[in-house]
Amino acid sequence: MKSLFITFEGTEGCGKSTQVELLAERLRALGHRVRVLREPGGTPIGEEIRHTLKHSKVNVTMTYETELLLMNASRAQLVRETIRPALAVGEIVVCDRFYDSTTAYQGYGRGLDLALVRSVIDFAVGDTRPNLTLLLHVPPEVSAERLQSRQSTLPFVRDRIEEGDRYFFERVAQGYEAIAAAEPNRVRVVSGTGAIEVVCENIWELVRPVLPRIGRW
Ligand code: TMP
Repeated sequence: MKSLFITFEGTEGCGKSTQVELLAERLRALGHRVRVLREPGGTPIGEEIRHTLKHSKVNVTMTYETELLLMNASRAQLVRETIRPALAVGEIVVCDRFYDSTTAYQGYGRGLDLALVRSVIDFAVGDTRPNLTLLLHVPPEVSAERLQSRQSTLPFVRDRIEEGDRYFFERVAQGYEAIAAAEPNRVRVVSGTGAIEVVCENIWELVRPVLPRIGRW
């Protein structure tokens, strides 16, 4: 049975979550069974970890090492509870962030040792790896603007990672560039600055060639 695992990546405000939903709709309209997930989170345990990482009052004292391990605890649960079973029955799994976020944010952004970060990721995911990763690229000023406008339109909810300074997000963006350069076959960069429909179409051009054929297992 063929399966497909697609992940979306990018800095804050790159438009990933909208594009995840649009892609899922398009795939479902063609008759594919699609599982949409997000990280950190995606399982009951993972959603509790997400709250601890992002919004919990106590996370102001969290160390970067703890952050790395919690991201990967959520991931280890998601891989075994949801992703592997879904892939095993031929669903298309679309995940809003996966391990490249850890490399970019905890590795490049927080400055944790990259080899160590890689070994924690390997432990969390084993051989469950995305077939295709769509990296939505927006320039840092667009990312900062979108983040600011999101923060001012929604009721204020403190988010520990969004509290990072400009230099942190610049390092994250550099991390993503390095990831894309290292694995150009898996990681495809898509500009996220155009109209939503244009970005969606560009994503579709990359997804279409790797789709499993329906009814021809
Ligand atoms: P989001 O769901 O709004 O993208 O929020 C998730 C946040 O968590 C975002 O700021 C990126 C961050 N993150 C990491 O730092 N490391 C990770 O491994 C993952 C999955 C997310």
